[in-house]
Amino acid sequence: VTEIGGYFELELNPGNQEYHSTLYRFKSGRASLNFILHQTKPTKVYVPFYACDALLEPFIVNNIQIQFYAVDAKLEIVCMPSIKDDELIVYVNYFDLKRDYVASLSNIYKGKLVVDCTQAYFQKGNEVSWFFNSCRKFFGVADGSDLYVPKEVNLGREYEKLLENTNFIVDHLLLRSSGQTQHGYKHFKKNETLNNSDLLKMSKFSSTLLSQVNFKGVTNRRKLNFNFMHYALGSTNMFPVHNYAAAVPFFYPYYPNIPIQKEVFWKNNIFIPSLWSDCINRKHKQEFDWERTLSRDLLPLPIDHRYDAADMERIVNCVRSY
Ligand SMILES: Cc1ncc(COP(=O)(O)O)c(C=O)c1O
Repeated sequence: VTEIGGYFELELNPGNQEYHSTLYRFKSGRASLNFILHQTKPTKVYVPFYACDALLEPFIVNNIQIQFYAVDAKLEIVCMPSIKDDELIVYVNYFDLKRDYVASLSNIYKGKLVVDCTQAYFQKGNEVSWFFNSCRKFFGVADGSDLYVPKEVNLGREYEKLLENTNFIVDHLLLRSSGQTQHGYKHFKKNETLNNSDLLKMSKFSSTLLSQVNFKGVTNRRKLNFNFMHYALGSTNMFPVHNYAAAVPFFYPYYPNIPIQKEVFWKNNIFIPSLWSDCINRKHKQEFDWERTLSRDLLPLPIDHRYDAADMERIVNCVRSY
């Protein structure tokens, strides 16, 4: 029974902004993927080498064989594998710039395709393939992932049995919102370690926060910032940025012809992540030189909805000063 009286909880009221229409909401991208593996029980899964080690965790946990594949300059599969009945293939909608390509893969692989939308929160499922995202990569929430399933799949009973995630911390969210970014970083890292493949539903805390997001405002701002960057840097960008009208981007992927050290940005209080140092360090008998080069030299420039044109200009000036 719930307690009556005593001290107050955080004042969180459910809003009415639901962007995603799926019934299935898990603790993390890995938890969604873990659930897919439990349902489909594949013997082998094809996975892009150009991804982080976190993506591999559910395969390790379930002892499922993986085979890495290579991507080309457009981040499309170099050699399309033929997928057997008991196999799956994962493709990442990189930077949310690969929607058309995802549609063509879905036509080919149908229910054998799992689309990793951790860089494409705003992509919805198509009822043919599996799609999952990761909410905390786009918003100030502690956990969460939406899973869309193929039309013929009904996870209802299996899903209802699961508990909600309660194993998360929010200190980093509170500290960053009061401007204590450096102080909050260690809490952010701690919360990252708590986000794993455990089969749990998204926390009530994160789903309530998400119901208050102004998704239209977020979308507009991200698109404006992305366009600003592309206008300013597109002519010196070696990464092919095309067909992005439908995208609600994650970062602006900037691949300069002369590599720029990320420290240059850090000195100016601009934090550019590495996508993905795991690729550089991963030991593997095949070389995957292209993926390692991209991981080292491609700069994911922040364009999210917290920022405006003046912030974009600061980033562009930093690039130009190099
Ligand atoms: C490409 C990719 N896929 C999947 C994941 C896993 O998402 P989550 O951390 O929500 O489990 C990550 C996260 O780091 C990722 O970068």
